[in-house]
Amino acid sequence: MTFTLGAGSALLKPIQVGGVTAENRIFMAPLTRSRADADGTPSSLAAQYYAQRAAAGIIISEATAVCEQANGAYMNTPGIYTDRHQAKWAEIASAVHDAGGKMFVQLWHVGRMAHPDISGFETVGPSPTAADMLTHTPLGKQPLPVPRALTVSEIAEIVGQFRVAARRAIDAGMDGVEIHSANGYLLHEFLSDVVNQRTDEYGGSARNRARFTAEVVEAVAAEIGPERVGLRISPGNGAGDMHEIDEVGAYEALLCRIAPLGIGYLHIVSKPSAPAFAALRTQWDGTLVLNTPRDVDSDFAELENLATWGVISAAAVGRAFLANPDLVQRLTAGAELNEPDVATFYAPGPAGYIDYPTREELAEPRSA
Ligand SMILES: Cc1cc2nc3c(=O)[nH]c(=O)nc-3n(C[C@H](O)[C@H](O)[C@H](O)COP(=O)(O)O)c2cc1C
Repeated sequence: MTFTLGAGSALLKPIQVGGVTAENRIFMAPLTRSRADADGTPSSLAAQYYAQRAAAGIIISEATAVCEQANGAYMNTPGIYTDRHQAKWAEIASAVHDAGGKMFVQLWHVGRMAHPDISGFETVGPSPTAADMLTHTPLGKQPLPVPRALTVSEIAEIVGQFRVAARRAIDAGMDGVEIHSANGYLLHEFLSDVVNQRTDEYGGSARNRARFTAEVVEAVAAEIGPERVGLRISPGNGAGDMHEIDEVGAYEALLCRIAPLGIGYLHIVSKPSAPAFAALRTQWDGTLVLNTPRDVDSDFAELENLATWGVISAAAVGRAFLANPDLVQRLTAGAELNEPDVATFYAPGPAGYIDYPTREELAEPRSA
């Protein structure tokens, strides 16, 4: 598959995101790579991996835990809650900046997607509604447990953990953070009218279901400045056995509440033809980043059209960036793209991580 972004391409125009000037509108979508140390410190190869992809308008990091209990959906995923973690993120920020790039850290709490054999903690969520799924644990594949419903004071504690983690990201030299309220993890679970069965102020009405994510966005914006905050949502996305009967209401309530803050960007995982996307698009005046879901490959002609017509401000691209460190240059040249190797998405080590060749390297292979 090839596609050429010609002279005058909308996706190649720079864009201001808060205080950051992104050189183009092709962002790298967050990609968990499961290569972190057992204590959650990012991989020693992560700085090289991200710096290779610095030509992205903005790199959004793999999902990163805000506290120890926030991890545990998968093995070897990173955190940003110790000084050791922060020091490694600082190395990554420097490497990306030295290569001319910009980078946000994606912050998550995995909620009911955690397994105690990975996390070492009891699994929690909005309500005792389990994801009907098996997950890889050190003891093999096991079903996800029924989560314990978080108390209101625990919710407040997690809001605080997002705030502290965001501060650490900025202190590490990152350009901003993206709050992960998508793909079936904790904040998305609260937005759902199926998974969230609470009867307190965090459940029931659309406004109540939006409350937790809104509080996180507000707290993080107060800590690091709204312009350095991105928010990722995925209305109607079934990842993590997620179900939503109403795919719009809680999101409308959320966007309505956070609109006055003026955050850096809203990141929506959606098909552009989805009714939820159309509904939320008309409601959002700020910078809007679109990532089309995993069941289809990124269609760069479609993304370019959407950017040209101002439907989206920027596109985030996952697997194509994973496999093509020089994706932007390839699209500019209309060059063939490397195919991603699914077998090494989450495998340890350098293979399928830092060894995807650039076009230059293909023309002139690295010496051994
Ligand atoms: C290997 C892999 C890891 C992913 N990890 C994350 C993640 O950490 N956070 C997140 O929000 N989405 C994650 N996603 C979803 C991607 O950000 C993106 O939405 C998806 O791959 C579809 O975009 P694409 O077709 O451009 O790859 C992941 C997807 C893949 C393939």
